This record gives sequence, C-alpha cells and structure tokens, in this order.
Amino acid sequence: MRIPFIAGNWKMNMSGRDAVEFAEQFKALYKNTDVRTAICAPYVHLELLVEAFDGTDIKVGAENAHWEDSGAYTGEVSVPMLEEIGVDYCIIGHSERRQYFNETDETVNLKLKKLFTSSILPILCVGEVLEEREAGKEKEIVGGQLKKDLEGLTADNVRKLVIAYEPVWAIGTGKTATPEQANEMCGFIRDVITDLYDEDVADEVIIQYGGSMNPENATELMNQPEIDGGLIGGASLSAEKFMKVIDF
Ligand code: 13P
Repeated sequence: MRIPFIAGNWKMNMSGRDAVEFAEQFKALYKNTDVRTAICAPYVHLELLVEAFDGTDIKVGAENAHWEDSGAYTGEVSVPMLEEIGVDYCIIGHSERRQYFNETDETVNLKLKKLFTSSILPILCVGEVLEEREAGKEKEIVGGQLKKDLEGLTADNVRKLVIAYEPVWAIGTGKTATPEQANEMCGFIRDVITDLYDEDVADEVIIQYGGSMNPENATELMNQPEIDGGLIGGASLSAEKFMKVIDF
C-alpha cells in the first residue's frame, strides 16, 4: 500500500514573517490524517520551519540542492548543509529550474545520486510543455526524462523516490490536467519504472500530480488509482487551503 503524500512547493514566495505565520496557522489546523505532508520552502525559511514543525508529522523540504558536498559554487547549497538542519525532502528538476536555470537531465541525475547518499529523499519532477502535449509527444518526453534522470540509480534508490508528474502547461495557469489525463500519465510513469526496474519497485514508488491542484479538484485527482499525492504550488501558500487539500 502506498501512503498518500501531499507536499507544498512555496517556490520564491513568503517572507520570513509569512513563513512564521503560516507555521503557526498550519500547526493549529493540522489534523493527523493518513497522508504524509511536507512543505518545501526557500532555503532561508527551512531552519525556522524545521523548528516550528518539530514534534509534529509535518516534514520540511528544500526546492533544489547542488550535487557536490562543498566547493567554489557561489550561490549554491549542498545536500550535507540541508541534512544538517534536518530537512527531509528535496525537490529536484522542477520545470521552472529546467526552464529558467539551465537544469538538465544530467544535472538532475547528479543531484539524485547525491541525495541518495544522504537521509534526504528526492521529489523528482517531470512533465511536458504545451507544444509537446499538443504534438502528442508527452509520453516520449516524460519517458525520456525518466530514463536520463534515473540513470545509474539502484532499485533500492528508486523504491524510495517520489516522482511528481507536472505538465508544464498546468502549472500556475489554473488549467488542471483532467483527472483522466493525470492518471494516464502517472500510470505511464509507473510502466516506465517497471521497464527500467521491475513491477515491485514500480508498485512502491510514490507518484504525485502537480499543476493547479487545489481544494476544489483534490478529491477527484486523489481518487485516481495511479495518483498517490500532489505537489501543490499556489494553494500551499495558505495554511487553510493547503490543509483542505491534505484533507481531500
Ligand atoms: P501550482 O499549484 O501553482 O500550479 O504549481 C504547481 C507546481 O509547480 C508545484 O511544484
């Protein structure tokens, strides 16, 4: 049985004060459901969130990390640094990083390999852009990303991996993939994992949907058999809305 996993991705939002306020409100609203929960936040808020959620089931994630432990990489943050402050998850390969910051499948692969030497679990993002969907190439694109991103990872690594299917055309646009489209792609991702590893591994891997998921559409998306969770952008900036998604 795969345990549902709903994670927020704050992206480059929330001031320090907003983050403190969110943590207070969210802790007050949070009910222990059977859903794994995490907030992925900008680096500068991670320590305060780890402290605020100490003693609760709410986990904290980063939005990126470098693949080296240390060195002359101005502006970067390493996996051991994140481990030291008690971060549990790290988003890797978000489409915004692929689109605006030159993230490639090769750097995604290096980052995943580094994370699997640590206690931090990666949330790997894959997804196609609108033109690729319109050309009917979504499976080719997502399958290609997965093959390159996972190259050299062991079956034991991939069992612990979280994959977020995020169609780029549905991110921040209010345009959600239909539950059927999202389910089909999450099922396809599971088939790719079966091909690359085996059915046991594919059965264990948690696959989230991300893209304009909110309290209104969460139930229908989460009721799809292949969708195990969500990666929530906009709706994770409000403690109330985020709790409603978790309580789908
Ligand atoms: P939105 O929920 O704002 O569409 O963002 C989705 C996303 O990119 C999560 O990583």
